[in-house]
Amino acid sequence: MRTTISSLLKTYEQGEKFTVLTCYDATFAKLLEACSVDVLLVGDSLGNVIKGEDTTLSVTLEQMIYHTRCVAQGSEKAFIMADMPFGTAQHSPEHAFKNACQLIAAGAQMIKLEGGRIMADTIQFLTQRGIPVCAHIGLMPQSIHQTGGYKIQGNTEDSAKRLFDDAVILEQSGAAMLLMEVIPATLAKQISAALSIPTIGIGAGSDCTAQVLVLHDLLGLYQDKKSRFVKNFMDDSQTIQDAVCNYVKAVKTGQFPDKTHEFE
Ligand code: KIV
Repeated sequence: MRTTISSLLKTYEQGEKFTVLTCYDATFAKLLEACSVDVLLVGDSLGNVIKGEDTTLSVTLEQMIYHTRCVAQGSEKAFIMADMPFGTAQHSPEHAFKNACQLIAAGAQMIKLEGGRIMADTIQFLTQRGIPVCAHIGLMPQSIHQTGGYKIQGNTEDSAKRLFDDAVILEQSGAAMLLMEVIPATLAKQISAALSIPTIGIGAGSDCTAQVLVLHDLLGLYQDKKSRFVKNFMDDSQTIQDAVCNYVKAVKTGQFPDKTHEFE
């Protein structure tokens, strides 16, 4: 039986961590769930690791639908989350709903969208119509042209307060999960403690409910951008399956991420 939002919430309520990895095809979907990865994120990072682009901005809804179908086809147990690509969630709640429905029809059980409080109305609109949402704050690759680069967010007093307030607003709007990318570990800890929904961290320290990595980073295949928060699990593993299983073990036991992967 496929993992549901209720079973993930139960894991959270029991104080246990869960694991998330990006996944874009059926073969890896099978392999990842054989290692008990809880959530397969069909990320728009496929713009980088599949299409070979510098940004995620060219990823289309059709491409996300195709890869979501592949992942759904290849898996039986894992929970499937899919990204709303650039330009498909920002126009209006109605437009976002129409687009999100297509990802759900392709097999996603939750959609993820980037943006702080500006996305609150859209999140409310989607969740009231049966589409669970994971909100994504902190470093938002779709806003690269506004931020001027892949930089840490929330590292000043003002920006930390804004991110904290965004997190609270997004929970109040109905977000079922919150993903935080590249923010100070102390801030992620405060946000995780203040919210009553699971938080998923990437470059956000070890105090989040769950951790996510881009699969190709975990396997040491994507060397274009070496980030502090990435760990190449192939370094200590014989096979791809070992590397993924070691990631799952390291997250569940709190060994990954450690201080060397955090930001201040
Ligand atoms: O698209 C993606 O892979 C993501 C992760 C970096 C969290 O959003």
